[in-house]
Amino acid sequence: MVHPHVERRARIARELADRVPRGTVALFASGHPRPRNYPANTYPFRADSHFLYLTGASIEGAFLAIDGDQSTLYLPEPDDDHALWHGALPEAAELATATGADVAPLGSLEGALAGRNVVTLPSIDPRAARRQSHLVGREVAPGALDARDVPLADAMIAVRLVHDDWARAELAAAAAITAEGHLAAMSATRPGARESLVRAAFEAVVIAHGGAPAYGSIVTVHGEVLHAPPTAREMRSGDLLLVDAGSESPGGWASDVTRTWPVSGTFSPTQRDIYEVVLASQQAAIDVVAPGVRYRDVHFAAARKLSEGLVALGILRGDPDELVADGVSALFFPHGIGHLLGLDVHDMEDLGDRAGYAPGRTRSSRFGLCYLRLDRDLAAGMAVTIEPGFYRVPALLQGALRERAGDRVDDAVLARYTDVRGIRIEDDVVVTETGCDVLTASIPKSVEAVEHAVRRS
Ligand code: GLY
Repeated sequence: MVHPHVERRARIARELADRVPRGTVALFASGHPRPRNYPANTYPFRADSHFLYLTGASIEGAFLAIDGDQSTLYLPEPDDDHALWHGALPEAAELATATGADVAPLGSLEGALAGRNVVTLPSIDPRAARRQSHLVGREVAPGALDARDVPLADAMIAVRLVHDDWARAELAAAAAITAEGHLAAMSATRPGARESLVRAAFEAVVIAHGGAPAYGSIVTVHGEVLHAPPTAREMRSGDLLLVDAGSESPGGWASDVTRTWPVSGTFSPTQRDIYEVVLASQQAAIDVVAPGVRYRDVHFAAARKLSEGLVALGILRGDPDELVADGVSALFFPHGIGHLLGLDVHDMEDLGDRAGYAPGRTRSSRFGLCYLRLDRDLAAGMAVTIEPGFYRVPALLQGALRERAGDRVDDAVLARYTDVRGIRIEDDVVVTETGCDVLTASIPKSVEAVEHAVRRS
């Protein structure tokens, strides 16, 4: 079998060859542990995703150079001080075997690049980006893609958009840990307990598997705050708890799942009504996922179904298609239907909208669509999230958008639903030749399955 990372580097070299002058070297940084509040107190290290994609190795302070069919991993010199506090770096021979790349000391990289045309992708780590600047002889800044590096960004996007078998196995492994974590979180929920206890239950599963959360877990009874920060708030019997939490696989691949459940173990009739509307919207979106389908149309399928449901409940008035086209449904579903998923939970978002938006497409400035992170035609092997929601956001319901909606929102009916602040339902799907596989399908989602899982505590 060809080493998967050797194959990935060969694909990058082929993609790049069509876009840059002959003899161009592609340079990738792994990054360093980032300080928390002073230099020696750092967050756990995770290599930059482009580097990880091409090596599978999470090594601090390393660089990878791809020069045609030659790949070399440049490793920091052994450092007694580092060994004393953090342990010795892996042996060069061990890394050569693990990555299928040649290995050389970092000190020789500058000489190897001298006189060469070098393209690079800015590390998200400022210290590594400073070194990149020195090595390529121009400013390289986290999050800022230089026009000279665009061909490399486009080559990476072409390769990372469609997942190989190795990546799909990692995504499935991340989804399996996340499923176990969500079940633990459901059964840890009870009135009087704190949100932080539920977060701990989820993350205990993740940590026990040797992994890390793929992003900051969102565990909140204030689901109307889309990315609510962690708190130790006490949960009450009538609350809905929104948990948006995903694990990384051991290889660093992401999963991203949201479930919303009643703290008491039983949805109230009003909570249940809205939950069913969001669930139907999510299913409508999953049903249209297939190769060749424009992702923005997946968003519209979800928004249309949500509008239909809200019209049926009497919260909205009018034709569902018009409610979507006029942005009225965005009052309750303000974000996009989802995003790319891969090594990053928002895959390749370090490259801005270049990965998410197909050439010639740009983000809309219209409220509701402006948060759509992906607008490509789907292809077999792409992984995306599907995550509609319903939120009663006071700032939106008192703002200009609400005024424009006029009598198409029935405030009296909406007022019956005050025990629903926010509901989101999210799964991870991989596009297949005929539709999609839902990687996170085992996590309870129907009203009955969710209630059963919460009552199991
Ligand atoms: N689930 C977190 C996010 O999509 O940002």
